[in-house]
Amino acid sequence: MAQTNTLEFRAPVSETASEALDGVWKDFIGSISGIGKGVYHSDAELNSVLNHNLVMVHSLLMSTGSYRGLVNNSVQRLTRTKSWGWQSVYQDAIAKAGLFSTYSNAPVPLHDHPGVSGVVMVVEGQVEVERYTLKDKYRQQTQSGQVELQRCDRKVLKPFEISWFGPEECNVHSMHAITDQCVMLKVQLAQMKAERSWYFPVRTHDQELGTLSAHRIISRYL
Ligand SMILES: [Fe+2]
Repeated sequence: MAQTNTLEFRAPVSETASEALDGVWKDFIGSISGIGKGVYHSDAELNSVLNHNLVMVHSLLMSTGSYRGLVNNSVQRLTRTKSWGWQSVYQDAIAKAGLFSTYSNAPVPLHDHPGVSGVVMVVEGQVEVERYTLKDKYRQQTQSGQVELQRCDRKVLKPFEISWFGPEECNVHSMHAITDQCVMLKVQLAQMKAERSWYFPVRTHDQELGTLSAHRIISRYL
């Protein structure tokens, strides 16, 4: 079994996720919905606040037996699916939280989250996340077709490190576990504004400009 110090947490187990998050959930979601709205003065500030908040939420949830059970199940691969796994932790009208698992032999291709913000934090394993912003002129398009993406960054995330997506900025990302599997706590605002798309690169990066051409395929066609 994979080792993770997050499983060493000792606390009462009787609380539900809703009780554990009571009093902090709305402020926490506020820190995510502030992405792209001029709330943060810099990416460093944004990263620092979200990182702090994700660690806090994870710690609070670890005081519940249900979340610890889900983390254990994810780490032990009891819930493995063909490509990736999702276990719901908490959901209400404003956002949802869950454990997202991805595997080294099944990378998650580039995809978007139209119009919504979200954040992931690694709980166990390591994952390479590549992020892009869909260029302006393609944003209102509702059909499949060729588009251009502007690269934000590519980073390897270790336990307790985060990656985020804004409603527009860095909204497109791919994930590739570089350990056998990677389990992440993911929190995403509710209600995407449009249908999800997948992006399949047709040309390698223009290294200087950081651009990528890709075929965008709307989810219903896959
Ligand atoms: Fe995603």
